[in-house]
Amino acid sequence: MKSTNLAFFGLFGILIGMLSGLILSCAAPLPRVALFAYNLEDPYIASFVSQISDQVGNSFTLETYDARNSQVLQNEDLELAVKEGVDLLLVNPVDRLSAYGIIQHARERDIPLIFFNREPLATDLALWDSTYYVGAQAIQSAVLQAELVASLFGGNPQSLNLFDRNADNRIQAILFKGEQGHQDAEIRTTGFVETMTTMGFDLEVLALEVANWDRAEAYDTSGPLFANFGSQIELVVSNNDNMALGVISRMRQISLFEDTNQNGRVDQDDSGWIPVIGIDGLDEAVIQIEEGYLYGTVVNDSNRMATAIAELSRVLLGQRSWEDFPFPLTNEKYIWIDYLPFSRGLP
Ligand code: BGC
Repeated sequence: MKSTNLAFFGLFGILIGMLSGLILSCAAPLPRVALFAYNLEDPYIASFVSQISDQVGNSFTLETYDARNSQVLQNEDLELAVKEGVDLLLVNPVDRLSAYGIIQHARERDIPLIFFNREPLATDLALWDSTYYVGAQAIQSAVLQAELVASLFGGNPQSLNLFDRNADNRIQAILFKGEQGHQDAEIRTTGFVETMTTMGFDLEVLALEVANWDRAEAYDTSGPLFANFGSQIELVVSNNDNMALGVISRMRQISLFEDTNQNGRVDQDDSGWIPVIGIDGLDEAVIQIEEGYLYGTVVNDSNRMATAIAELSRVLLGQRSWEDFPFPLTNEKYIWIDYLPFSRGLP
C-alpha cells in the first residue's frame, strides 16, 4: 500500500475514534442504583453484597450504604437516595417491619424496590406492584438441617448410633438462635425442632440461646452452657454459621475437640466429638468442615440470589425484558432460591 493511502487510513481511524468518544460522552449516564445493607459487619451480608456488586458488572452504578444495624440511620440514607432520585432501591432492612414506610416513600417518587434477605410482611409487599423480594424459604433450611442431623445419628430414631453418647435414644442438644423476630431465626428454630419430632426423633433441648447471628455473642453465651451441661451435650445446632463458628472457638478453647485416635486431625471418629451444625455456607465454615470441627451446614445461596437481584434490576431499569427471565417469579413478587445441604462427603 502506498504511503499516501496509509496516511489517509490513519487519519480516518483517528477521526472515527474521536467521533465515537464524543458519542459515548453524550450517551445517557448509567442508571443509579442504591443498595442498603443492614450491617456489613455480618459476614454473610458482607459477602452477599460483594456478590451483588460482582454480578452487576457495568450495567449500572451501585452505591452501597451500611446501616450498621440502625434503622434510624438506614431511614436517613434511604431518604437522601430517594430525594436524589436514584433509579432503583435494593434494600436489606434492619427491621423488616420498616418496609411499610420504605415502600410508601419509594412509591411517591415511583422508584422500584427489591428487598432481600429480610422478608417484609406480605401485606406490605402487596402495597405496590413495583416491589419484590429475593430470598430463600427458611423452613427448607430447617428441614435440611434436621435431615443432616438424622443421618449423622444413624437415620433410625428407634436405635441411635454411637453419637447418642449416653445411649438413652434421645438427642440432647443446645440451640443458638439468630435475632428475635427475624423470619429466618424464628422459622429455622421451630422448624428444626418440629422436623426432628415429625421424623420420630426424641430431641431434648437443654438450652436455647439467642445470640443475634453474632459470633462473639455465641462464644460468650456458650461458655456457661458447656460449664452447666458438660458431657450431656450431644449436638449443637445454630441458625447460622457465624454463631456456629463462635461456639466452635469456645469448644476449642475448653479443649472439647481432641484427636483421640491420633490420625492427625479432629474428626467424627474421635471419641467425644460433638457435632456442630450451621446454616449459610460461609467460606470459613467450609474450611472448618474440611478440618472436622463443623459437621455441616446448609448453603443459603447468596451467589444465586445475587444473580437474581442483578437480573431483576436489569428488568426494572428497562435493560432487559421479562421474556426469558431466568428465575420463576412467584405471585408476581417473590424469587425463591433453594438451600443446599453441605457436609463432608456430600458434593
Ligand atoms: C443468614 C444469617 C444472617 C442474617 C442477616 C440470614 O439469612 O443466615 O447469617 O446473619 O440472614 O439478616
